[in-house]
Amino acid sequence: MRIHGKVAAIAACFGIFLLLYFLGGNTAEDPRLKVLAEKGEEADSNYFPSPSETKRDVEAKFARKVPAGVVARLEEPLGGREKSKTINRDASINAKSKPRSNVARPVIKHTRAEEVMHLAVVACGNRLDETLTMAKSALLFSLRRIRFHIFAEDPLAPQFKERLNQWPRSALAKFQYSIYPITFSVGNADEWKKLFKPCAAQRLFLPVILKEVDSLLYVDTDVLFLRPMDDIWSLLKSFNSTQLAAMAPEHEVPKIGWYSRFARHPFYGVTGVNSGVMLMNLTRIRSTIFKNSMIPSGLSWEDLLHPLYQKYKNHITWGDQDLLNIIFHYNPECLFMFPCQWNYRPDHCMYGSNCKGAEEEGVSILHGNRGVYHDDKQPAFKVVYDAIREFPFEDNMFQSLFYPIQTKFLDTVNTLCGRIPQVFLKQIEKTMRSVFEEKVVQH
Ligand SMILES: *[C@@H]1O[C@H](CO)[C@@H](O)[C@H](O)[C@H]1NC(C)=O
Ligand SMILES: *[C@@H]1O[C@H](CO)[C@@H](O)[C@H](O)[C@H]1NC(C)=O
Repeated sequence: MRIHGKVAAIAACFGIFLLLYFLGGNTAEDPRLKVLAEKGEEADSNYFPSPSETKRDVEAKFARKVPAGVVARLEEPLGGREKSKTINRDASINAKSKPRSNVARPVIKHTRAEEVMHLAVVACGNRLDETLTMAKSALLFSLRRIRFHIFAEDPLAPQFKERLNQWPRSALAKFQYSIYPITFSVGNADEWKKLFKPCAAQRLFLPVILKEVDSLLYVDTDVLFLRPMDDIWSLLKSFNSTQLAAMAPEHEVPKIGWYSRFARHPFYGVTGVNSGVMLMNLTRIRSTIFKNSMIPSGLSWEDLLHPLYQKYKNHITWGDQDLLNIIFHYNPECLFMFPCQWNYRPDHCMYGSNCKGAEEEGVSILHGNRGVYHDDKQPAFKVVYDAIREFPFEDNMFQSLFYPIQTKFLDTVNTLCGRIPQVFLKQIEKTMRSVFEEKVVQH
């Protein structure tokens, strides 16, 4: 008798599940969802009634849980973004219109996590620690999963692997990484390598090498995220139809800017752009024909790089950043400018504070160029770098990261950049507060 009852309940549940499924409409045509529907049987085994539960309880549970289960278990392959967008939207509508059962939150987090963000960096010479600290800052604060693309000189590659694999499991669960050798697809490799810092010209070739990647954020190794990478990533969606890359100005004040005073080649806008933090829609870069001063009908990105270099190599000082400035000088409609707080450098404070955005909302991405993480010229930058580098992954962030930064900042108030601590601390405090709140809510 009891067994009969159980079987009947199971059959009824499965029936309701299928009904809900097909009432759900056109989504059932998606083959990936069909697979899930088949798996549904096994997935819902936890939801079978205990003897004390009535049939109505079970129905109510299904109405809540089945759609949630479907969303949570959807394995979104990279590149299937359109589908995942629609599904995400359903999930949030679901979460809003239903009473907030404890399933709703993790489900939203999970689907959000499935849209992977790509982060590329090029590391040569003694940049191992710096690169790992950058990657750590991206991981500590970001919400979605990250895929790191690390281009490294041969001796560094095994060291990256070794160090990354020592990170705690909780951190490893949030990212994947690939390590690539330094390669140049066109021209003379040695010549490219000599251009500017060792290996920096590699970034120009990302659209050609990472053919399967739609979009990525490129950063220099001396960059630190002080807020979720998700926030800069979302700017990709703000591009208009002709924009395919985003950077910050090289300088805020033309009078003291380098390009505006010294450049002997064309550059973007009034002060040029800094390429240390660069969003790129690679799909668009690969399909665009770029105007230039050599071939009137234009050239693809891949075909443009070498002739451009040949033409300007005796006039450029900062290597590949200069080439980017030349490209966007001739194609200004392709560039999205983000404000200086997304690429905050010593230049923004060592001649007096000149980055308005950072004064208002704090630094979002810190860029310690000029080697300031490793000497004592700008201790404000070094304090932040040291604190993130030394932070033990799983400690309380306020106690072991924010408070040490705040305390050590007191020693820098007599320096040019340290006398405006709120610029450095505002955003990072906000970030930690939200990470903290998220953790409390989750557990
Ligand atoms: C990049 O551009 C392509 C082509 O316009 C577009 O389909 C894709 O959604 C864009 N990527 C992002 C992340 O916005
Ligand atoms: C996109 O924005 C850029 C920069 O503001 C502008 O130059 C360009 O004309 C815009 N493109 C379109 C299609 O509106």
